[in-house]
Amino acid sequence: MEDDIVLAAPLFAGLDVETSGTLVSAMKQLHLVRGDTLFHEGEPGDRLYVVREGKIKLGRRSNDGRENLLAVLGPGEMFGELSLFDPGPRTATATVVADAEVVELGHADLVRWLQDKPSVAQHLLQALARRLRRTNEALADLVFSDVPGRVAKALLDLSTRFGEKVDEGVRVAHDLTQEELAQLVGASRETVNKALADFAARGWVRREGRAVVLLDVDRLERRAR
Ligand code: CMP
Repeated sequence: MEDDIVLAAPLFAGLDVETSGTLVSAMKQLHLVRGDTLFHEGEPGDRLYVVREGKIKLGRRSNDGRENLLAVLGPGEMFGELSLFDPGPRTATATVVADAEVVELGHADLVRWLQDKPSVAQHLLQALARRLRRTNEALADLVFSDVPGRVAKALLDLSTRFGEKVDEGVRVAHDLTQEELAQLVGASRETVNKALADFAARGWVRREGRAVVLLDVDRLERRAR
């Protein structure tokens, strides 16, 4: 199976095309639609996934039913590896936000793969370290930044994954509802809406349903600091 996007995932980094092709062809492909759940937080996990197309949100739920999004992943990103490296339950629920194609690899196959190709482990560690950096930053933002600052940062982060250059700036088709965007920022829907309305009034963004056009990236970057 020829698949440049999947092959861009850390799982295949540094391998020649033939070797990675062997692994990709051993992976099962899944077609999913918005709302499908791949697994729930707390369940035992025995496989990891690479996104080929679409968007997957990773969320956690508090005892009183509130939800928080850890990340929204897109093409070429991997998830479901934590319960392999640290055997235990899934640390988040994975739900499809935009119709998706993902490929899955059983943990047992991955372990065999890592034994044969130790260099892959190094790339996986790097991916984990990058994720930890990002999580540390998000944690610091929750403590130190105000909601508009966090909204600006979330939009910029989403734009690096899902942004597309247009004449006016960058169009980010995030496919998130207002509620999901608020869960990603870690604030109420009302506060996040207020921040977005303020950005729109200043001419920094334009809202288009489940997309937003970033009209003034510089200002947003300054607001995100
Ligand atoms: P696992 O715990 O098996 O299942 C949930 C997955 O969500 C987890 O593996 C990671 O792949 C992913 N995940 C957990 N926490 C984060 C995070 N902070 N940022 C991005 N992805 C995460």
